[in-house]
Amino acid sequence: MVNQPSGKKSNQTTLHVTATAPSNIALVKYWGKSDASLNWPANDSLSMTLSQAKTTTSATMQPDAATPSAHRMAFKTAGSATIPMRDLGKTTRYLEWLRNEIRPFAAAEGALDILTHNSFPSSCGIASSASGFAALTIAAAGAWTGAKNMDELHRLGITRDLLSTWARRGSGSACRSIHGGYVQWIRGEAPTGQKVRPIFSPEHWPLADLIVVIDRGAKSISSTEGHARAFSSPLMSVRMSGLDERLKNAAQAIEGRDLERLGTIIECEAIEMHSVMMTSQPRTDYFGAPTIAFIQWLRESRAAGNLAAWFTLDAGPNPHVICRPEDADAIKGLILAQFPGCTLIHDQTGSGATLGPGQETHNANQGGSDGH
Ligand code: DP6
Repeated sequence: MVNQPSGKKSNQTTLHVTATAPSNIALVKYWGKSDASLNWPANDSLSMTLSQAKTTTSATMQPDAATPSAHRMAFKTAGSATIPMRDLGKTTRYLEWLRNEIRPFAAAEGALDILTHNSFPSSCGIASSASGFAALTIAAAGAWTGAKNMDELHRLGITRDLLSTWARRGSGSACRSIHGGYVQWIRGEAPTGQKVRPIFSPEHWPLADLIVVIDRGAKSISSTEGHARAFSSPLMSVRMSGLDERLKNAAQAIEGRDLERLGTIIECEAIEMHSVMMTSQPRTDYFGAPTIAFIQWLRESRAAGNLAAWFTLDAGPNPHVICRPEDADAIKGLILAQFPGCTLIHDQTGSGATLGPGQETHNANQGGSDGH
């Protein structure tokens, strides 16, 4: 449903804004929803915001759209090519929902021209929906209100908290990507009682995240579908009963900068979440033998005193290896020597989403669906 160029010439100045939002890695996971339509999670979660793996999204008001909801969206690929987004249904519905939320703050009229770029390859074990919906929310809010940076949004009453609440409706984990450092998403007693809080800054404890791309294949089951299956697992109730304690312990480990304690918690957490996945109906396997071989090697190497690193896994086969920044290069060397076929993305604790300084673009109708 890419909006076709109208062929009409327009000649006007439009506001062009650019948002960036990092991905985040969950240390205590969001898995299972109490209300799927509102993305109300079954449990509290805790994540570390990343810095290198991020989505950059620019938004411009279309001067000549056929209808206000005829948003034009495109992906910029790693090279220079720009590909129109084909499956616009979910994103368009989200943008129209968002427009209504923004209306108390600004007129929010017109269709948007949206261009998105991920700094990381898709399907590599980095949650692109988290950074994607966070960046889209901020870019659209900027374009529709005319705010050119986060301070201007804030002055209009659109705070980081509000942006996080909005982004959550696009994808649950996106609410944590708005903030930097270590971020807790508290489910509250009702969907309206949810809170997202940065509990420690990135400076409090910078950690490295080495994302080990073992398998580049797209995941077979989306996280959204996986969440829906979670309560069919007999293990889910056991998981729920221990999560508050686990989150408290993880937060204490971060506070005390105790990597061994945090590492032990996050490995147990990842395996538990995947045990729920594997015992759900229908069964959901997100990884196979290569990931198991990696986990075994990591644990044996650690036990042998060769490295101080611990893994976590999201809904995919590619482990995130958490370690001290000063150890990261040596650990990377060990991983690549043992698994020469894999690719590594070296990331670290980061500081949250931004809205770039506005750029006035003189728009003499570019005419294409991806004309940026
Ligand atoms: C395993 O946020 O992708 O990464 O809300 O349906 O879009 P939706 O799901 P999503 O789920 C993320 C699941 C996870 C754990 C986490 O990030 O907490």
